[in-house]
Amino acid sequence: MLTEKLETLLNKQLNLELFSAYTYLAMGSYMDERSLDGFAHWMKLQAEEELQHAQKIYTYLSDLGAKVRFEALDRPKQEFDSILDVFQTALEHEKKLARELNEISSVASEERDNTTAGFLDWFLNEQVEEVAQTNTICDKLKLIGEDGQGILLLNNELRDRQREAMAEE
Ligand SMILES: [Fe+2]
Ligand SMILES: [Fe+2]
Repeated sequence: MLTEKLETLLNKQLNLELFSAYTYLAMGSYMDERSLDGFAHWMKLQAEEELQHAQKIYTYLSDLGAKVRFEALDRPKQEFDSILDVFQTALEHEKKLARELNEISSVASEERDNTTAGFLDWFLNEQVEEVAQTNTICDKLKLIGEDGQGILLLNNELRDRQREAMAEE
């Protein structure tokens, strides 16, 4: 049902989602090292979501009888200049994933695979949300600058982030 090209691209995406989870865990550890529990919490929830994205693709491939292929993951970045640098790196990463997903969606449309194009719609919308959320935090961090009190306030705000229910497919 899936073309070889889409199977390869979806597997690549699955591995990218796993790498994203790995990336956010590494970012979480940067925050934990600085006792920024709210920022760390946000990153760990983000990692969980990325793992769910990987699982969603796993299930899709598996349901279609396609092969799920795991690759070695790159070492995630753990050295950053500042908290803002962490979030700017996250923002660039999310934008890159949005571009990749858009590319796969275009291939699905070209191949008239409406099922896969429909499956990817959820991911495209999710990316819009993730880019927006990360962008908002970057903007707040730019306003705060070096102000310790502002950082602690944002830390408290991010501590309240709730686990989102997995959206229906
Ligand atoms: Fe993701
Ligand atoms: Fe993401």
